[in-house]
Amino acid sequence: MRIRIAEDAEELADRAGEEFARRAQDAVLANGAFRVALAGGSTPRRLYRLLADGQGAPLVAGKIPWGRTHIYFGDERAVPPDHPDSNYRMAYEALLSKVPIPPGNVRRYCSEGEDPAIVASSYEKMLREGFQLADGETPRFDLILLGLGTDGHTASLFPGSEAIGETEKLVAAPWVEKLGARRYTLTPRVLNNAAHVMFLVSGADKAEAVKKVFEGTQGPEEVPARVVQLLQGNLLWLVDQDAAGLLSRAGE
Ligand code: 6PG
Repeated sequence: MRIRIAEDAEELADRAGEEFARRAQDAVLANGAFRVALAGGSTPRRLYRLLADGQGAPLVAGKIPWGRTHIYFGDERAVPPDHPDSNYRMAYEALLSKVPIPPGNVRRYCSEGEDPAIVASSYEKMLREGFQLADGETPRFDLILLGLGTDGHTASLFPGSEAIGETEKLVAAPWVEKLGARRYTLTPRVLNNAAHVMFLVSGADKAEAVKKVFEGTQGPEEVPARVVQLLQGNLLWLVDQDAAGLLSRAGE
């Protein structure tokens, strides 16, 4: 579990862009495709815009094989794709509408669906088809982007959620009491099978949660981001100075 501390949100996005480009190039060289799950929320927006306009860190500009990139989502809200809260909409506006990804390569949750079990199972089917999985196999993403909530949640794995302990399903549809809302999320089985996971964390409001992840004693039930422990992969935490501010060795 590596942690890299960036000066601020801008440098965080630049470093994340370089890492994203590196993973994309390596995956296409190795397997002819780059399969990535995007994070929702607000932090990744700056990264998505940087990837879209190809500026910023030299490594990123024009270096992403969009034609061979397959986009999935780590989680989604139970809203239509054009809803202001939709993670798909945020990624579409910041990135997907601006780069030449074949439309069939973008796989969103059918989150407008009425029946959560059907929404979850249809996304699971999309994963099985997209990764050409045999029964019982787990998709291995080349890269999964994740964020961290102030309560230690990641994707839509919230404290106390049954989905944290889910070992069979690839996609869960937890009711999140504190939000009074349904969510859809990849399960730890999928997150932990990735080749690379990159957390993007920015802002002083996340400092408590970052400290709990790195220096706390609570388990994943209370701090769900701690459930992410890759079986055979690289876990990178990209955290800016503000979010790393309470770490005992921050800034050394
Ligand atoms: C979501 C995300 C969620 C997010 C964290 C951090 O759907 O909201 O998947 O896990 O990454 O809540 O969100 P911010 O980046 O907005 O702080």
